[in-house]
Amino acid sequence: MNKKFLVIGNPIEHSLSPKLHNYWIKKNNLKATYEKKLLKEDEIEQLIIDVREEKIQGINITVPFKKLVIPFLDTLSDEARKSQSVNTIYKSKNKIIGDNTDIEGFKIGLEKTNQIIKNKEALILGAGGVVPSIIIALKKMKISKIYLSNRTELKALEIKKLFPEIEIIEWGKVTNFDIIINATSLGLNNEDEINIEYKNISHNKFFYDVIYNPKETNFLKRAKEFGAQTENGKMMFIYQAQKAFLIWHNILPLVDDETLNLLNT
Ligand code: ATR
Repeated sequence: MNKKFLVIGNPIEHSLSPKLHNYWIKKNNLKATYEKKLLKEDEIEQLIIDVREEKIQGINITVPFKKLVIPFLDTLSDEARKSQSVNTIYKSKNKIIGDNTDIEGFKIGLEKTNQIIKNKEALILGAGGVVPSIIIALKKMKISKIYLSNRTELKALEIKKLFPEIEIIEWGKVTNFDIIINATSLGLNNEDEINIEYKNISHNKFFYDVIYNPKETNFLKRAKEFGAQTENGKMMFIYQAQKAFLIWHNILPLVDDETLNLLNT
């Protein structure tokens, strides 16, 4: 039987998930297809019924549905429940399960950079769907302090309800940090700028952007000019996909140079 997998989101056109998953499917000689689907919110319910009826074997979820999908599921993994965010769906023992592989993806991606996270202070910009996953991953890596700053403060306060230990900073202000993470969508567009004070930035600061396409956002470009270390979200993307592939196919696909090159658009 040909198994069917999907990534749903809105927008979805730029998703590289099909490219990556179909590459691994072929490498492992599996009978499966992975496609992207632009979705409207009122179509979620039917799609979950399709999983229940085994017309679809697995779904990846991206912006803006990671939280919205939760009411339609039977069971959440521990990580999905803690983050209130689901990016991987499948059926097991007659239950529709929502899992979160973004946490592990972010953690492994960061570990690959060899940056020391333990006992460091991080400032996260943004309060969208991926931020709880980032916070959980940083906590697992024993970060000492997390500051959060978002244009709409109310959304930052919602995240603080899940993680009371974080500190909210006014949008546009910057604290003393070791690591700064852009988790906003600012940068997807090449003209986007994040107005923070770059003049005190030096080589011991680490700038991380969740965005991987474009490869280098203005946020990372500026940071580099001031001597900071930088990394984009490519590894996070690859490792969240690897974990989803493992859940669905029970195979841990290889991340080699060919895999990395595949995503150089
Ligand atoms: P969602 O909020 O649906 O999860 P997201 O793409 O995950 O969507 O999150 C978008 C993030 O980028 C939000 O933190 C958003 O800030 P708001 O909560 O204030 O909307 C941020 N963002 C998007 N455009 C922005 C802009 N022009 N200036 C500052 N922040 C922006």
